Formats: sequence, structure tokens, C-alpha cells
Amino acid sequence: MDNKFVIETRDLTKAYGKFLAVNKLNLQIAEGEVFGFLGPNGAGKTTAILMLMGFCEPTSGTVRVNGLDPAREPIKVKRSLGYMPEKVGFYDDLTCRENLDFTGRLNGLTGKRLPERIDRLLDMVGLNDKADQLVGKLSHGMKQRLGIADVMIKDPKIAILDEPTSGIDPEGTAQVLDLIQEMSKQKVTVVISSHQLHQVQKICTRVGIFSKGQIVAAGSVANLGREALRKGQFNIIMPIAQLSDKLRDSISKLPGVIDVMCKGNSTTVICDDNISDQLETLVQNETGLKVQMKVEEFDLEEVYMKYFKESQP
Ligand SMILES: Nc1ncnc2c1ncn2[C@@H]1O[C@H](COP(=O)(O)OP(=O)(O)O)[C@@H](O)[C@H]1O
Ligand SMILES: [Mg+2]
Repeated sequence: MDNKFVIETRDLTKAYGKFLAVNKLNLQIAEGEVFGFLGPNGAGKTTAILMLMGFCEPTSGTVRVNGLDPAREPIKVKRSLGYMPEKVGFYDDLTCRENLDFTGRLNGLTGKRLPERIDRLLDMVGLNDKADQLVGKLSHGMKQRLGIADVMIKDPKIAILDEPTSGIDPEGTAQVLDLIQEMSKQKVTVVISSHQLHQVQKICTRVGIFSKGQIVAAGSVANLGREALRKGQFNIIMPIAQLSDKLRDSISKLPGVIDVMCKGNSTTVICDDNISDQLETLVQNETGLKVQMKVEEFDLEEVYMKYFKESQP
């Protein structure tokens, strides 16, 4: 397999009896990405993550993490991976600092380095004033932030966060998403799973939309519209029933134009940029008419409707 991908799966499959929880998943995640593994509840995200971590054996297909097979070299793989499970587990009767200290020791950190790192991480996640408070007394959002500190303690190359914003209020969600961007700035490759496309997509360099065990669309959010719905980010609709060949040709040459379609009494220009001003000038120069342009921006809501609503409980 190609080494430039830190995570790569080929036809990765997990069957429970006849049910395929993950069905021939092909993922390639490059170093430095914030990859959003997005899909409704039950899509198979957690199952896929458990296979990446080597916690669950694939039925067929392969996984490579930094070129290693997590089933064969679990210790080496886990050394470079930070993992935050869906339900973050802390000792409620220990303080934030004590919990991080415990994780640090488990990962072989000792001496002065450990308390220094704990302080730095508590600072990063905005919990230094809670350092000596029992974890059982933290809000859910605070626990998630502590979870991020817990992942970062071993200085991972890759962090896999399963539903890091689930069940947190909007403010807490924004804080967790900011922290994930901070992790990325610290050169950690981040994989986040979420059933909340709206909240999470904005911090992802790339997303894979997962539905019923399969990736149904993948790419940057800007390109998803085209991949998922076969259209560009903008539809510009003009009340012109027919175009001359010359005008059609000139429109096609405008930047970002994907397609030009005449239907009924109107023409729709599908494009990646909002070029309505250029279109207006072009049409006016060509036909002498000043036409009203109606601009529809592609909305992630459509992706949401198409893939996310269908399997909601
Ligand atoms: N151990 C298991 N045995 C049987 N079915 C399972 C098991 N784990 C998960 N599943 C099923 O696999 C599907 C995917 O689950 P999961 O990976 O948890 O989805 P997600 O994380 O996207 O919500 C679900 O239908 C779930 O019920
Ligand atoms: Mg899950």
C-alpha cells in the first residue's frame, strides 16, 4: 500500500451474521488532514473505527495505519494513535489532573515531563481552573474537552475521535471543534466521526459520507455537492429559453462552469463559482437584454436530506 496515506483501508468489511455493518470500505487519509467520517446513527462509523484501532477484527479487507496492520502489530499501531471513544471513560472520583496523570503513566510518561505536559494540555482545553476538581463534577462538554487532553497526552501522530461533539450544547460543540483545529495545527492527523454533518463539516479538510456501511460520497465539502448530487455549488438561473451556440460556448468558458442546461423557459448554469455578474454582462453584450439572474447556492442540507435523514431512528 501507498505510504503517503497514514490511514488506508481496502474493501474493509465487518459482518455480523449476514448483516454487513461495514461493507467494502475504501478510505485513504493523508497526513495532516482533518477527515470527517460522517453519517447517520447505525451507518457503521464506530465499527469502522474499531477496526482501524485493531479493537475489532475485520471479516475481510485490509487496514493500514502508518503502513502497519493493527491486527498484527497492535502495540506499534496504538503507540502513534490517540483514540477518544464515543463514551469517554474517566474515573469520576479522581480529579482532572489525576486522570491525565493516570493516562500519561499508562503510556510510559514519567518524571517532570508528565506534570508539565498535563498543565499545558489543561491550559489548551481551557480546564486549568478545574485541574483539581473531581471529573464526576464536570459538565459533559468539559469531559469531552478533558477527553481531548487525554488523547493528546501521548503526543499522537493520529487522533481518532468518535462522536466528539455528541450531546454537547452549541457552545461546548464550538469549543471542541476549535480544539480539533488546534490539534491539527499541532500536526496531528485527525479523524472525527459524527452524525452531525452541519456542525462538524466546517472544520474538515475532507469528509466521507457514510451510509449503510458504505462511503457514498467523499471529498472536500465544496466538491461534495458535485459528487453527491452531481451538481456544482451554484445554480444560476436565467429567464432565457434558448441560447445561441455562440452564447452557450462563451458561457461554458466562464470560470467554474460545469454545465449549461436549457429547460422550459429558463437556462440554468451550474458552476463552482458565483459568476452571476460576469454572466449578466456576457448575456447583455450578446443579446442586448438585461436579465435577472437567480442564484441558488448548493446547500449541504440536500446532502443531509439525501443521506442523513433516511436512517435516523
Ligand atoms: N457487536 C455487534 N453485533 C451485532 N451488530 C452490531 C454490533 N456492533 C454494531 N452492530 C450493528 O452495526 C451497525 C453499525 O453500528 P455502528 O458502527 O455503531 O454505527 P454508527 O457508529 O455509525 O452509529 C448497527 O446497525 C449496529 O446495530
Ligand atoms: Mg457510533
